[in-house]
Amino acid sequence: MAVRRLGRPRLHLREVDSTNRRARELAAAGAAHGTLVTATAQTAGRGRQGRSWSAPAGRALVLSVVLRDPPALLPLVAAAAVAELAGDSALVKWPNDVLVDGRKVAGILAEGRPQESWAVLGIGVNVAVRMDDLPAGLRGTAGTLGLEPGDVEPCLQRLLCALERWLAAPRDELLAALRARDALANREVRWDGGAGTARGIDDGGRLVVQRADGERVALEAGEVHLASG
Ligand code: BTN
Repeated sequence: MAVRRLGRPRLHLREVDSTNRRARELAAAGAAHGTLVTATAQTAGRGRQGRSWSAPAGRALVLSVVLRDPPALLPLVAAAAVAELAGDSALVKWPNDVLVDGRKVAGILAEGRPQESWAVLGIGVNVAVRMDDLPAGLRGTAGTLGLEPGDVEPCLQRLLCALERWLAAPRDELLAALRARDALANREVRWDGGAGTARGIDDGGRLVVQRADGERVALEAGEVHLASG
């Protein structure tokens, strides 16, 4: 079996504002591929589109890993790995929200410096989060794996293994896994540029959407702000 490279070296912090911010600093200073930052408590977690990410101390898995030469479909790779951790019933709301029973159990934020060939992949998973631990505004949409605080570390190890496997997997396997977990299939979606019905993920990892007039458009991850329902 290949030697696992993700997670070495590892910096574990009792408290940090954002593991992504810390990992970006390390990446910019030349940290090696696989360098991992984890925290028991994250006080100012960053989410996509400038949102914040709330993670109750000791009950959520909070990690950021430095990747050198990251793949183009990194957000989808991360979604496949997190969905595997979350179990057979987990679905992926393209590009990378992982849902269990329709509720978001994990968030993924990939940030990078393409010109310097690195990315920081940040992942937060509600491993043992209780709804009362979360801000009231999240209780209607957030979910949890329903495990115990003692499961956070084993979940980290499983996630790193899954991530490493999906980083090495051929694109067609990755896309097949995501298509099998597609939470948006045939659902109505809205994005900055319009609205339509989701018709699956194309070979480039884009979301195909059919507008009311029948025209199909392919949306790029990262370029659209999607809402569904
Ligand atoms: C989202 O769904 O908006 C993405 C949330 C990503 C949260 C994780 S928690 C670990 C890492 N550090 C951060 O500051 N954000 C990511």
